[in-house]
Amino acid sequence: MSVVFLNGEYLPKDTARVSVNDRGFLFADGIYEVTPAYRGRLFRWDHHLARMRKGLAAIAIDYDAAPLEDVKLELLARNGLADVPVAYVYVQVTRGVAPRTHAFPDPPVQPTVYAFANEYHRPSMDNWALGSRAITAPDQRWARADIKAIALLPNVLAQQAAVDAGVINTILVRDGIAIEGTHNNLFAVFDGVLTTAPKSNYILHGVTRDFVIELAGELGIPLEERAIPLSELYGADEVFFTGTTTEVRPAIRVDDRMIGDGHVGPVARALFEKFLEVTGG
Ligand code: PDD
Repeated sequence: MSVVFLNGEYLPKDTARVSVNDRGFLFADGIYEVTPAYRGRLFRWDHHLARMRKGLAAIAIDYDAAPLEDVKLELLARNGLADVPVAYVYVQVTRGVAPRTHAFPDPPVQPTVYAFANEYHRPSMDNWALGSRAITAPDQRWARADIKAIALLPNVLAQQAAVDAGVINTILVRDGIAIEGTHNNLFAVFDGVLTTAPKSNYILHGVTRDFVIELAGELGIPLEERAIPLSELYGADEVFFTGTTTEVRPAIRVDDRMIGDGHVGPVARALFEKFLEVTGG
């Protein structure tokens, strides 16, 4: 049975217990982070840690996340994931356990910290090269999508809509602008220019997004960070998603529109090849 981490202890998953008074359970009052590991090495943990610190500060949870690096490595080792090509470690920190009342517990209580590790199964290259399909839906999230909050109901509903439609993702659209996927960032290519939404409070500042932008720089692919209207996205040469549990994943159809010529394009392919080379995945 897999081993998880809960409040300082490593436990068999089935024995880990959280209180019904946990504020994560009652209010979704917490944040989370998902960090990839390539052959047992955490990838860009410093970036994930920085985002986690910002999130904790934004919701006023006093918790030092730096020691979680060792927890993540220990979870990989204890679950036999130190040698697999790709794994990821999930960690969430909630405000802790207290009788239900909206305001913060006073005095503060110990945050609840839970983490687990899983293997990531990348699609085969043949499958990847077929591309994928996505639909669109209104972005119903709050205006702090930059905080990696565990409150994911709008993302859950949008992703279920994708599953119901038999596609892999839903692009969230706010005021006519294609923002990001339910659990990944969105890129498009127009006349050779890689384009993605600028960092703002309306998107999650993806670590993979930054990495892919760096790779584009190394490959000499021009970049523009700007809002992409959905009407324009339909006419893109390429569309793809990036994220820890997505890596680089092209979409060849959005709603009922074919993207480009309906095949995975050269920019997504070049970026994914470089991505695999650098991560050693
Ligand atoms: N999702 N946008 C959203 C809304 C996300 O939830 C995520 C990550 C990303 C990509 O961020 P990164 O490249 O740092 O993984 C963008 C995680 C993996 C999840 O919810 O499981």
